[in-house]
Amino acid sequence: MRFIHVACFDDWRSEARALLSDEVAPNQVHWSPEDNQLGLFDQIDGETSKEKGADASLNGGGKSPRVSVPSPFLELARHVACHRDPARWQVLYQTLWRIVHGERRLLEISTDEDVHRLQVMKKAVKRDVHKMKAFVRFRKIEANKAVETYIAWHRPDHLIMRLAAPFFSRRFKGMLWTILTPNESAHWDQKQLTYGPGLPASEVPRADVLEDLWKTYYASIFNPARIKIDMMKREMPVRHWPTLPEASLIEDLISEAPARVNQMIENHEGFSETAARYLPIQQDLKSLRHSVNHCQACHLCNDATQAVFGIGPENARLVLVGEQPGDREDKEGKPFVGPAGELLNTSLHDAGIERNDVYLTNVVKHFKFERRGTRRLHKKPDSREIYACRPWLESELTALQPKTVICLGATAAQALLGRDFRLSKQRGGIQMTQWSERTIATWHPAAILRMPDKNRRSEMIRQFVQDLRQGNAVLE
Ligand code: URA
Repeated sequence: MRFIHVACFDDWRSEARALLSDEVAPNQVHWSPEDNQLGLFDQIDGETSKEKGADASLNGGGKSPRVSVPSPFLELARHVACHRDPARWQVLYQTLWRIVHGERRLLEISTDEDVHRLQVMKKAVKRDVHKMKAFVRFRKIEANKAVETYIAWHRPDHLIMRLAAPFFSRRFKGMLWTILTPNESAHWDQKQLTYGPGLPASEVPRADVLEDLWKTYYASIFNPARIKIDMMKREMPVRHWPTLPEASLIEDLISEAPARVNQMIENHEGFSETAARYLPIQQDLKSLRHSVNHCQACHLCNDATQAVFGIGPENARLVLVGEQPGDREDKEGKPFVGPAGELLNTSLHDAGIERNDVYLTNVVKHFKFERRGTRRLHKKPDSREIYACRPWLESELTALQPKTVICLGATAAQALLGRDFRLSKQRGGIQMTQWSERTIATWHPAAILRMPDKNRRSEMIRQFVQDLRQGNAVLE
């Protein structure tokens, strides 16, 4: 019998490789259970590598001969290695043994006992990673005044730090942060991830400015008309509540809910959802652009290919706001790249404006259309969809603080200048709004393209260029 101690996937992989090369059968190995992924004070740099292609090598360095296994097995093993079940190493080796001894397609047999057991473990680990992504809350600490430093403590069910940490390094790339769990910690220094030993919750500083901010945000998005307590407990397990600042609010919010619902009914407050609950905490353009694709504030996200967020320089002084992406924009994920965009390009050029200097966006971020055979015909967004999507535009404008906003068409004009705005009467006038010193409304290029009367169309183009030039001139 061989007694083997492994602490992480890489250990298991090299041990398994050596055992296979010595032809040691699974019943000849005793894998000793060990919960720590990392030996005390070990330090390992970088993310785990990803095998590509149909087959992947089991080799992670070392001298034993190469063993090739189907790449889905390695993917499965990486997840299973993070499960707390002490039997995981044994089941993994047993399955690996069978694969390399003639059962190459074993993983396709989902009713097989070993395969099923591994799949169940993988699923539990993936769910735990998902929960970690949702429930980690960073607190700001004052360790380094030059760069903001954050710390979070989380108690996952499994040993998932290595699987989850790369997500946080992508999501919070520009921050210095540390995530502590009882078993392992991860540290990001804006360049690389390092892992260290775990720490108890008592080490995490409690006072935090972010916490109040987050609570305000949570209370503002909490909709008493939609409380589902069981669902909240499922999605936000009570076990995680001690580390979630918003959890202390939940009881109050729940007890106040009936009164708030009545008040909402009296105030005719919309029960319809808005995008506010999908906004990221840090509302810079990059974070907003990343978050918009998760938005489900209205049904338009169901049929559109993707959300189309604004594009252009972060310091743009001129912002153009259209209605919603069209067919081409929906496919390409960028605003104004279709026929309306072409007319906009020539008009910007005629007005002496560089398109690359301008920030382009829309009131509604998802394409609304009606299918006619293979064609997708543009449909005007209704007031509920415009209302639901509004937080994205407001956040964009708040981040940009442009000097001038030009509304292209009635939808944008009414969204920013009020429901009573009439394009035919008020086009070209300059108004001050909370978003910019100057807001101007002009024709939408698509409306110009649809104009059947040739003379009228030329006149609209002339006015369009003139309005663009005027919007730009006030910047000089
Ligand atoms: N029409 C718009 O309003 N926006 C686009 O991005 C494209 C067409």
